[in-house]
Amino acid sequence: MRFGTRPVLIDFSCEFPGGRISVVLGGSGAGKTTILRLIGGLIQPQEGRIWVAGTNVVGLSERQLYEVRRKLGMMFQGGALLNSLTVYENLAFPLREHTQLSEQEIAERVHATLAAVGLRDVDHLLPGELSGGMIKRVALARAILRDPQILLCDEPFSGLDPISVKRIEALLRRINQERGITMIVSSHHIPSTMRMAHHVVLLWDHKAVQGTPQELASSPDPQIADFFNEELHEEGVREPQHTPVHRW
Ligand SMILES: Nc1ncnc2c1ncn2[C@@H]1O[C@H](COP(=O)(O)OP(=O)(O)O)[C@@H](O)[C@H]1O
Ligand SMILES: [Mg+2]
Repeated sequence: MRFGTRPVLIDFSCEFPGGRISVVLGGSGAGKTTILRLIGGLIQPQEGRIWVAGTNVVGLSERQLYEVRRKLGMMFQGGALLNSLTVYENLAFPLREHTQLSEQEIAERVHATLAAVGLRDVDHLLPGELSGGMIKRVALARAILRDPQILLCDEPFSGLDPISVKRIEALLRRINQERGITMIVSSHHIPSTMRMAHHVVLLWDHKAVQGTPQELASSPDPQIADFFNEELHEEGVREPQHTPVHRW
């Protein structure tokens, strides 16, 4: 995968186990968002194959991609909520677009999903009235609204304080356990990765280094081991990094 002459992924291969939480880890510009966009079929690689729930999404038409995307939930960085719509409308809107549900069924689904992410009595609020942690919750609710088989989360922890990070992390874990959703989470947050990941795909020099968090942290490659261990000591010290909102 390259943009113009800039290569992002070279001879790249990785996998994400079904029903588990995988974290795509890497520094800024390593290609984390690119991987999620490739999986969602939002961009196409110059070469290769990408199997998503049994279908190779490389070279598919928009119509064929639509079928694959029905199995995917995507949590956008920065929330990507419509600012002029209330929380309720932000969630009801995709259900009206894509399902045949009645207004009553939509209301039930919206409220059940908001409850699943720990939000109540927020129907009438506008995104501008929500805290950073609440915006992430609403974005997560929208991503799981239609019961996806696979959930893609781009940097769900960016810009959050350490307590909110733990809350969102616990929520992702619970949703994974309760619904068995395959989760692919991009992050540069090492402590939460160590806690929540079943599988880690570390982007390293345009390639993937894969394993359990423990395997990577005890890698025989000292640079990789350092990457984990140095950052582990920084918890609570480093300010949350600001990452620019990325277009999908
Ligand atoms: N649409 C694009 N056009 C050109 N270059 C891009 C585009 N999207 C990403 N890139 C480049 O690809 C690299 C990986 O980007 P990205 O996947 O956003 O990194 P990360 O999410 O790990 O910070 C970066 O060098 C970025 O500048
Ligand atoms: Mg990114």
